[in-house]
Order: sequence, then C-alpha cells, then structure tokens
Amino acid sequence: MAATWYGLMCSRLPLASLLHFPKSVRPVLIRVTMDRVPAAAEGVRSASSFLHDKAYINGKWVTADSGATIEVVNPSTGAVLGTVPDMGEAEAQSAVDAAYKAFQTWKDTTAKERSALLRKLFNLIEENKQELAKLLTAEMGKPLAEALGEVNYGSSFAEWYAEEARRVYGDVIPTPMKSRRLLALKQPIGVAGMITPWNFPNAMITRKACAALAAGCTTVIKPAEDTPYSALALAELADKAGFPPGVVNIVTSSRTKSAEVGKVLCSSPLVATISFTGSTNTGKILLKQSADTVKRVSLELGGNAPFIVFDSADLDMAITGAMACKFRCSGQTCVCANRIMVQEGIYDQFVDKFAKAIEKELVVGDGFDGSTTQGPLINKAALTKVDEHVQDAVSKGAKVVTGGKFHEKGGNFYQPTLLRDVTTEMRCLKEEIFGPVAPVVKFKTEEEALAVANSVNTGLAGYFYSKDLSQIWRVAEKLEVGIVGVNEGVVSGVEIPFGGVKESGLGREGGKFGIDEYLEIKYVCMGGV
Ligand code: SIN
Repeated sequence: MAATWYGLMCSRLPLASLLHFPKSVRPVLIRVTMDRVPAAAEGVRSASSFLHDKAYINGKWVTADSGATIEVVNPSTGAVLGTVPDMGEAEAQSAVDAAYKAFQTWKDTTAKERSALLRKLFNLIEENKQELAKLLTAEMGKPLAEALGEVNYGSSFAEWYAEEARRVYGDVIPTPMKSRRLLALKQPIGVAGMITPWNFPNAMITRKACAALAAGCTTVIKPAEDTPYSALALAELADKAGFPPGVVNIVTSSRTKSAEVGKVLCSSPLVATISFTGSTNTGKILLKQSADTVKRVSLELGGNAPFIVFDSADLDMAITGAMACKFRCSGQTCVCANRIMVQEGIYDQFVDKFAKAIEKELVVGDGFDGSTTQGPLINKAALTKVDEHVQDAVSKGAKVVTGGKFHEKGGNFYQPTLLRDVTTEMRCLKEEIFGPVAPVVKFKTEEEALAVANSVNTGLAGYFYSKDLSQIWRVAEKLEVGIVGVNEGVVSGVEIPFGGVKESGLGREGGKFGIDEYLEIKYVCMGGV
C-alpha cells in the first residue's frame, strides 16, 4: 500500500511531491525508502552497472587521449566511487565533429522517429529509476527519496519532449501579393553544446538534451566534474534506446580541464548553440566566448530568490513553503529561497515557528539513510562558503536562532541554520548562499519589500505569501524575476517555462517553450504562383 502510494506520487508529481509532501505522510516515504536501500555500500554496489569509467563519444565508450582520469567522490563519506576520463580540447573537438556529422542525417529523421526514440529513453529511465537514484545519491549526496524525485523529474522531460517533437508547427503567412506564398519553417539549429550542473545531475541534462533531440539537434554534453556518473548512465540508456552514434556525446573532465572543453564548445563554428546551467560568472564567460561565432546561448544562472511573507499570509502555509523552498537539496538549487523577508506584524511568530519546524523536521545525514532529509554539501569549498556567510552575518549583528555551525558529523555537513535580525548589508542577502542557511529580514511595507526584492542584479525565482488578492496581482507583476511562486514554495515542473531575467539568464527551458531554443525559423517566399 505504502509502496503503491509512493510510486504513484513520484510518477504523477515528480519533484514537488517529494519536497512538498505533507508532514503526515512523510514517515510513509521514509519507510518505503528504507525497505529498499538498507545501506550506502549496498546503494553504490547495486548502482554499479551504471558506474562507467569511460566517456561516450560517437557511440563508443572512450578514455581520454592521455589516459588521464579523475576521481568521483561521494560527498557524504569522502569515499572514491571510481574514476572517469579527464578530457580536454582534443576530445571535445572530436565529440563536436561526431555530433556535426551525425546532425547531417539526424536532422532529416521524422518527428515521429525522434519521438519514438525519446519514448524509449523515457521507458528505460523509468525501468531503471531505482538504480539511477542510487547512483545520483552516491555521487551528489541528496537523500535517496529526493534523488528518486529528481529521476522522475528527469524522465518527465523525455516523455514530454517525445510528445512535443510532433508538435513543432511552422506557419503559413497571409500573403500581401497574389503571386506569392509565404511560409515560416521551423528547423533544428544544429549541434547543441551543453554544460550541466552537479545539483541536478540527471534532470538538468534531460531538460536540455531531450528538447534538443526532439527538435532534431545533436548534442555534446559536459557534465559537472563532481557528478559525471548520472550523465554517463543516461548515455548508456540513450544508446540502448537506439539513438545513432554521434547524436548524444558525453565529455567528462576535471575542474582544471573544464574550461578547455567549454571553450571548444563556445568557439567552434560547428556548434550552433550553447546551453548552460550554473554560476552567473561562468555564464558570462561562456557568453563572451560564444560572441565570435554569434551563437545562440541559453543560460540558467544564479538566483537570489526573495521569499516574502506578508502580514495577511497563512502562516502555516508559509512555513511549509519556506521549509521546502529553502531546504530542498540542502539549499543547493538556483531557485531556493535566499532572502526570506517577513512583514513586521508576524515576524517573531514566523521566526519561532520556522525554527521549530527546522529542529523537528530536518535530519542531517547520509543520503542512503532513510531518515535523512538533508544530505551533505557538494564539497569543501561549498561548505566553507556557507560558513563564511553565517560568520559575516553574525559579525554584522544577525542572531543565530538555530544551527550556525559545521555539523557534528563532520565531512561536508552543515547544520540547518536560521538567522534573524538580518539586514541588506550582509553577504547572505547580497549573494546566493547555496546551502542550508535561512536568513530572515524584517520589513514594514509592500513597497519596501519590493524595493529590496528587486534591488539585486539577478532575477530567477521569487516567492510570496499573501491572502490579499490585489496584493497578489501587484506583487506578482512587480517582482523582477522569471518565475513567481504565489503561496507555493516549489514551482518547478516539466510543463512550465523555467528561466530568469537580468543576470539570471537567457531563454527558457521546459514546457512547450524549451524546444524553441533548439529551432531556427526559416522564412520561405514562393513566387510566380
Ligand atoms: C536549479 O536549476 O537549481 C533548479 C532546478 C529546478 O527546480 O528545476
């Protein structure tokens, strides 16, 4: 019964279900997870069929030309899971050549053929989702239930774009001249270079690649250095599904060599578009590098999401939303609440309830432990940065309500932290925290909240809680972001346009919108009719 409910929830409401589940049913989730995954070692062992030690170029599993490798480490235990090739310029170039060659025939496949392959990929991901989730937890650290939610989220893009492939319509344009007929055709743009992040090692690949493949593009994907295994597992499934050699390519590399690979993708005239999810700084470099070949560039960059709670809000709803929005993925998503702003009338009450929820509901630990809700941070640099944010805030007058320290478990674990009396002068309000730290600022008026919310250069997601209908319209329209959650803390999904404004990015991913990033519109004028 529990298992049926769990499967159903996961497949119907992939991501939100796991992060938004009511407290009353959380133990059910945990129990099911524990039944299936008794221990970390077991998890990694049973995911071992997907532990590839080679990259995937032109339909072949290959090593780096130099034979160099990099270690992939479990961020929870520090254990080395294995190695993958450390590739650079030459291998990236050969992947681009393979993708370009494959594009010459892939672009002529019918939408129905591409749809069928994507549907096969969806089925294969679904069949293997338990193993894929274990692999994801092993290399990234997020709790297994959340990893399974991500794999469901990931497969939903294969399913969605299998359907969307067949709905790429052009236009017949009413002609102003009797002798002419005017058409707008949609055609695949070409080879798509993709650079994907470690926080969603599965879903951020499928969100980009399935849209590109549906459109008729071929792909060269460079996964994050920390999490290459989920990407290689997807390549294995794409291969099994029957995608021809060169249509999907995965180039793995170390942090040192990543820049070389990125440069090849951005500067090669054979690559038509770049899609990147990651930091704003890296996004700007890729944008500059793409200028010489005038490439189309899609960027999903950093956010610094405001999460505003007005006096009129349903407080319990706001707490549930803040918990999911802030602590999903241990605070390591681009759309996590970063600046929690609460109106003065309910500030103390909010802080009090939020602290109680954090202390009661969050369990820090290994992702394979069924009771864990908060995994480790991805690496030491991330851990240090999070602590620096806390120390900076405290030195400027913020008070630690709960947490505030490296976790007693050691390693990459940090205590879920709530800070009050936070001001806009503090680093945690100016920059993305990307960790389990919730800074809460007090505000007086709607105007003040909006001024603070819109005062930054980024604009990915923004959330607010209010029961006042006119306020809901005003604030939703005035927030300078690409994604707004009104009385909702987790708003991601396959159907929606995901993307930001200002320095948070260019373009949109997902939904009917995501495929446009991989299509050109060609105008055809037929004369002499
Ligand atoms: C992210 O890019 O960090 C968030 C992914 C999502 O919610 O879709």
